[in-house]
Amino acid sequence: MGIEEGGDASAARRPAIPQRDYTVTRDSSMEGIPFEAIDSLVPKLAEGEIVPSAEFHAEHRGNSKREILATARAAIERAPSDRPRKAIILAAGECTDIPLRELAEDSRLDEITLVDIDRRGVEEAVRGLPLHYRRKIKIVTADLTGIGGELVSAVTALESREPKPSKLDFLRGIKKIVDGLRVRGRGPELGGDYAFVCSQLVMSRLESMPKRFLETAIARTTGLVLSSIPGKPAGELISALDELSESLQTEHIEYLAGLVSPLGGVHLADTYEVSMPSGGWYKEPIPVVAMEAISQTASRHFADLRPQVFWQWGRKGANKIFQVFSRSLQPKLQEASV
Ligand SMILES: C[S@@+](CC[C@H](N)C(=O)[O-])C[C@H]1O[C@@H](n2cnc3c(N)ncnc32)[C@H](O)[C@@H]1O
Repeated sequence: MGIEEGGDASAARRPAIPQRDYTVTRDSSMEGIPFEAIDSLVPKLAEGEIVPSAEFHAEHRGNSKREILATARAAIERAPSDRPRKAIILAAGECTDIPLRELAEDSRLDEITLVDIDRRGVEEAVRGLPLHYRRKIKIVTADLTGIGGELVSAVTALESREPKPSKLDFLRGIKKIVDGLRVRGRGPELGGDYAFVCSQLVMSRLESMPKRFLETAIARTTGLVLSSIPGKPAGELISALDELSESLQTEHIEYLAGLVSPLGGVHLADTYEVSMPSGGWYKEPIPVVAMEAISQTASRHFADLRPQVFWQWGRKGANKIFQVFSRSLQPKLQEASV
């Protein structure tokens, strides 16, 4: 893991500033990502992307928190009490869907690690906790895909090539970079043996960082919007990005399996399809995650700890309707030997 922030030798000479009562670290997965580039890597809403209404958000938030807590409690009960019980929340963001306070209040949990590529929202959520709970919180800035640094260096090198590549050669260069990315085992080194691992609406978002970063680079260099570029090179690049997206999702399941302790539990929830209105009707839903590939990888590592739950959020009319699945998992191998 990377360097711990805060505190230096000259601190004693400066006026006292309040120490953070939680720790903040930057994982080595962020190496090679210059600070200015982080903003461009942080996934943002695409133009025109619609946020579901507050009313449905509240219902979704309630469902999410209930499922996360139920799995966390089932997992904590299973975890051996003779060693520290740790939880890790991946891509915690502003913790709007995460029952952070309830988890912090659980005296059986000794440590809670919150991970995100952008720590600002996470810090804000943690500052909202009472002081005595903040002490068990660790914030880690990390790129869960592990490919951000490589992507930034490769694209920067392509952009500064002399003579400047033509628009077509630039697209081909980007496709070559995407084809060369390997996601297996690239996730940040955040330790293991977590009694509870939480992945809430993260898996489907892992593609956003590389996609948006590359779309921005293409627009900057060629003045073109990837999705509206006609012809084979753009089409091939879009297919390569779709393949990358599926690999990131299945790799995420492998990553969860590596984090959780043999007697722990995992909450895995995500949007699996989205329906959009068209002239008062809803078109065929669009898949958001590669459900079959994910289920296959999940069933190699996990069995159900609690039953699977589904819900939808969104509003009929102008907005999209998102279908969400929520799974509660336990590692398979240990299940056989318990
Ligand atoms: C849909 S939100 C998750 C919401 C969060 N669980 C909540 O309750 O507010 C997506 C979060 O994933 C983070 N994220 C996206 N890609 C990431 C990556 N490659 N590594 C780490 N965090 C990432 C974003 O910064 C954002 O905070």
